[in-house]
Amino acid sequence: MFITFEGIDGSGKSTQARMLADHLRSAGRDVVLTREPGGSPGAEEIRRLVLEGDPDRWSAETEILLFTAARRDHLERVIEPALKAGKVVISDRFADSTRMYQGLSRGDLRGTVDRLHQMMIGREPDLTFIIDMDPEVGLARAKGRNGTEERFEDFGADLQTRMREGFLSLAAEFPFRCRVIDGNRPPETVAGEVAAIAERALA
Ligand code: ADP
Ligand code: TYD
Repeated sequence: MFITFEGIDGSGKSTQARMLADHLRSAGRDVVLTREPGGSPGAEEIRRLVLEGDPDRWSAETEILLFTAARRDHLERVIEPALKAGKVVISDRFADSTRMYQGLSRGDLRGTVDRLHQMMIGREPDLTFIIDMDPEVGLARAKGRNGTEERFEDFGADLQTRMREGFLSLAAEFPFRCRVIDGNRPPETVAGEVAAIAERALA
């Protein structure tokens, strides 16, 4: 079972991915918790290239290649071996993030993202939680972390607003695997809903 968390920056994906991993582990399941961009040593090196520096450091086209290269390494070395071993893999972001951030942020490149995905990745999650969140609140939370990985946050509130709308349309595009979760609630409430859906899917 391959589970992903998607949504805008600061929506609570990392928090929820961790809480679901803890929940499933305490129920006796073997869980691999991972993230993108990154998740394998090579992909973590690419992560630094894409998340640090000026917003205009890379074009959207170059980013598609970098994120897909990182994903391919992550898939080969971490995700596929774990799934083959019967583990539950939970990833904080996956290909839907490229469909949104690179596919929609600077013109319509969704077709390019999808073609490269089909050629080089070719796998979709079994279950995707889209954590829905007010873009201003999400951006304030993400900025509150005060890190160095702010390239996408520095694109500003307008990008976050468009990404939120994009994620909601994505849920309508892939209704079998996507569940929209209201992230404007206490973390434990959100986690309870997420755990119930994951348990049903695993059963
Ligand atoms: P993301 O991975 O989507 O960027 P995080 O899980 O890192 O989001 O959360 C961003 C910030 O918001 C963190 O400081 C986290 O503690 C806080 N946070 C996460 N979920 C909630 C929630 N449901 N309510 C309030 N704050 C939250
Ligand atoms: P992440 O570490 O999940 O940031 P946050 O916790 O703020 O949500 O992801 C970092 C940034 O990378 C985020 O702004 C979205 C961007 N991103 C892409 O643009 N394309 C991708 O394919 C992925 C996986 C992430």
